[in-house]
Amino acid sequence: MPNTVLAFRSDQPHDAARAPAAAVAAAAGMRIAQPHIEPLDALLPAEPLLMMGAGPVPIPARVAHANSIVINHLGDTMARIIGQVQSMARYVFQTESPWILGVAGPGSAAMEMSITNLVWPGTKVLSICNGYFSGRFAEMARRVGGDVTTLDVPPGESVDLGELEAMLARVRPTVLTVAHGETSSTTFNAHLAQIARLARAVDCLVVADAVCTLSTTPLLMDDWGIDAVVTGGQKGLSSIPGVSLIALSQRAWDRIESRPADPPHWCLDAKLAAQFWHHASYHYTAPVSGILALHEALHLVCQETLERRFTRHLSCSTAMQRAIEALGLNLYGRADSRLHSVIGIEMPAGIDRRQVCAHISQRYRVEISGSFGLDIVRIGQMGEQCRAHNLFRTLHAFGSTMRDLGAAVDLPAAAAELERSLQHMPYDAI
Ligand SMILES: Cc1ncc(COP(=O)(O)O)c(C=O)c1O
Repeated sequence: MPNTVLAFRSDQPHDAARAPAAAVAAAAGMRIAQPHIEPLDALLPAEPLLMMGAGPVPIPARVAHANSIVINHLGDTMARIIGQVQSMARYVFQTESPWILGVAGPGSAAMEMSITNLVWPGTKVLSICNGYFSGRFAEMARRVGGDVTTLDVPPGESVDLGELEAMLARVRPTVLTVAHGETSSTTFNAHLAQIARLARAVDCLVVADAVCTLSTTPLLMDDWGIDAVVTGGQKGLSSIPGVSLIALSQRAWDRIESRPADPPHWCLDAKLAAQFWHHASYHYTAPVSGILALHEALHLVCQETLERRFTRHLSCSTAMQRAIEALGLNLYGRADSRLHSVIGIEMPAGIDRRQVCAHISQRYRVEISGSFGLDIVRIGQMGEQCRAHNLFRTLHAFGSTMRDLGAAVDLPAAAAELERSLQHMPYDAI
């Protein structure tokens, strides 16, 4: 409901003690009336929806609890928590680099932090573009004056290494950007190690978006020679959205130290962020609750171990993909370029993807994602989404939705396939 402008003349006599609230407000010179607000309970569904889209994903109880706590952002306790977040992040990124920083913002803020610190006017940037998010890197680099060339990869395909090598030789970029997993088109640049090796050979820094892949599939920052890895909280890590992480190599840090001028974005200035992340002093008021949530999410990853977590993700996603094919539907993209973290499913003729997303949410209380232009829907397989009970509920909801909307699907065959595939997993892993 729009705010109502109060009709009130400030010279009207009034008795503040007895006057209605509107008159008191008007007397104080306030023209905008108190809005009518529905309580949160009236807006939220009575039963929480199961979040099985491309993120955010369900969060474990420990993460939710940590997210409800507020502490001093500069005290000793916070300093110890930051130290633990950094050492756990080093394990998850597989790096010995000291340069682990957090950012109060979405995954895009961590992407922008990498760009705004490593790129300045005239910096040559080559951006591998497999979709919407990898294209965002190019856009960010242009906005800080980078001389950007894009390597546009056909939809549903990972980058061709020969083509990349030729482009690197021609463009001679200082910075290469790439999305490990391109969520928008459900494309996986599985050859990230080789991509980084090619870039290193021409002395080019590598910036990788691991927003949807970190902790779901192997990524060895140091061994693969990646200079900046960025991630958000709300996907593979199963934390909350709004607190993100960046890991920078020493090579990247040296470039930041040698910048000819300060970066244009004050909040995203890595050297200022290091005040908080390395010297326990003030940059801006850190999102303490979100950092506590991230601490718990990282702790759960460490307790599970990366090996087991990768196995859980691969097994669950593979089982779900087989089940979707058993329904009679096609997976999107070239088989060797498919992302496991987010499954893309082609829509059969006559089925509207928007209707699928709306129906599964309203009728079955399961949330999945549409797409950025492609005729697909997307089911997430990140963090808590990769649990057997969530897979079965989602498959039932998705298959039933397709049937309700008139598609010919074989739900019993799909359920049997999911069960058969999951039988191969140790029970405690899922
Ligand atoms: C691969 C990838 N990169 C970047 C982003 C941007 O993250 P955020 O929406 O948190 O800014 C997303 C979000 O979906 C993503 O999937």
